[in-house]
Amino acid sequence: MFKTYLIIALSFISFVVVASEIEIPHLLQRGNAEAGADLVATCAACHGAAGQSINSDWPNLAGQNQRYLVDQLKYYQQSQRESPLMGAVIPYLKTLSDKQLLDIAAFYNSQPLIIGRAKNNQELLALGESLYRAGDLKRGIPACTACHSVNGAGNDQAGFPGVAGQQRNYLITTLKEYRDLQRDAGDYALVMQAVSQNLKDKDIEALANYMHGVYQQ
Ligand code: HEC
Ligand code: HEC
Repeated sequence: MFKTYLIIALSFISFVVVASEIEIPHLLQRGNAEAGADLVATCAACHGAAGQSINSDWPNLAGQNQRYLVDQLKYYQQSQRESPLMGAVIPYLKTLSDKQLLDIAAFYNSQPLIIGRAKNNQELLALGESLYRAGDLKRGIPACTACHSVNGAGNDQAGFPGVAGQQRNYLITTLKEYRDLQRDAGDYALVMQAVSQNLKDKDIEALANYMHGVYQQ
């Protein structure tokens, strides 16, 4: 258990090092939200006109950081991240340039994030809050705050996604996909595969409930 934790801690340190050494050009890349607004008509059916999806199974994109969004769009475009529903827009994504993908990311980033409401179940809330904030060293679960921040905003520069207000069912599905090593597009997915190995279904449910309702401070 301790070993797993150590590996995660070490990989986090090396990520910070990598981020500070080689990511600077990437940091400067910012898309044009107005140009992006003209490219997302086909996305609204599922992700909403302003990036707030109407179904708990489908992720919100509003307020998400640009780097994370553009990385994921490239994974779908190149069929590295697989999803039947996103599969429908791959032909369209293939017609877009990297600049246009960045513009789409800028558009969603510019939309206001709306935080959800956690289920008021004391046991679930207590488990979610304690795992999210402190992890569980004995069980080899790191604190989520280390990378996703206390308020769930993520880390814009490192491209760690925001998780506050994210749709509950989507959070559950995607955490299970990391745990089962099914979500495996890009090096960052390896971090979450390691993070999620020791999570039980109950932990995932509690974390999803907590993240959905985290309030921005
Ligand atoms: C038919 C419904 C549907 C349409 C249309 C759709 N999406 Fe998605 N999108 C989804 C679902 C479902 C997921 C989660 C899939 C998964 O787990 O990989 C997703 C995931 C994403 C993600 C990753 C979100 C995250 O938090 O990791 C991005 C970015 C995204 N979509 C952008 C787009 C864009 C841009 C378009 C339009 C070109 C689009 N989507 C069209 C259903 C859709
Ligand atoms: C060492 C840094 C780190 C830690 C600790 C960490 N995460 Fe992550 N998380 C990431 C990165 C990086 C990604 C993006 C992975 C990718 O590209 O697939 C991510 C992605 C996610 C996603 C997917 C978001 C989306 O929109 O699809 C969820 C959910 C998530 N993490 C939840 C958690 C939870 C819950 C914990 C604590 C148990 C946690 N993370 C701990 C770095 C971390």
